[in-house]
Amino acid sequence: TRRITVHDIAAAKERGEKWPMLTAYDAMTASVFDEAGIPVLLVGDSMGNCHLGYESTVPVTLDEVAILSAAVVRGSKRAMVVGDLPFGSYQEGPVQALRSATRLVKESGVGAVKLEGGQRSLAATELLVQAGIPVMSHLGLTPQSVNTLGYRVQGRGDEAAHRLIQDAKAAQDAGAFAVVLELVPAELAAEVTRSLHIPTIGIGAGPDTDAQVLVWTDMAGLTGGKVPRFTKQYADLRATLGDAARAFGGEVAGGTFPQEQHTFH
Ligand code: KIV
Ligand code: NA
Repeated sequence: TRRITVHDIAAAKERGEKWPMLTAYDAMTASVFDEAGIPVLLVGDSMGNCHLGYESTVPVTLDEVAILSAAVVRGSKRAMVVGDLPFGSYQEGPVQALRSATRLVKESGVGAVKLEGGQRSLAATELLVQAGIPVMSHLGLTPQSVNTLGYRVQGRGDEAAHRLIQDAKAAQDAGAFAVVLELVPAELAAEVTRSLHIPTIGIGAGPDTDAQVLVWTDMAGLTGGKVPRFTKQYADLRATLGDAARAFGGEVAGGTFPQEQHTFH
């Protein structure tokens, strides 16, 4: 089997096919999602909140993304694996972006990288694409800028909507192969999707984007506490795992595990 490429993704838009993307942070879940046919796995800096126990994505380091991306590549056979460039690994400029992205490609084996921002990230996008590294752009709510944006819907109002459309077109012109639209009004996401020949990948962006992405721990019901309204829980892993741990604990305390079939003599 060969991996999904940017050409497969371009062809899907031409055929009008919608597709799913999930985050993954380790080899085992990557193999599950790969076998389930998810074509693109994002090693998102959401690993900060969902895997590493940070309060946001801001503290995530390139070392952490590199290690977990390598695990996701090892755990998957068919999916394109996209490594998320974390805060501080590309903001100094295109040369730093190229150095960081090159590391994820060479060391971790990712097929593409993602970076946040429109105008401010165009030069980096161009340089990476020239170097042969496919780039996924990320617009709308960009969590690495939480300290300036907050967590709220982006692109509301004519001026903000116009700026988002311009950013998306600029990302496309710079050579990005796809654009994530996070937390933007559905009507605006639909307009961006119609205006681009590259696919849009929505999260909290309504039903009309070319693709949809969810954070896997939200999608599977593993995340504790409140999850955003735009996610859907397709399983209740938190309850399932908690039940398993309680059952194990109870059997150990009660002396009913291990039994003869688990025992060597
Ligand atoms: O880090 C992440 O999981 C993301 C997606 C939500 C697009 O950037
Ligand atoms: Na991210």
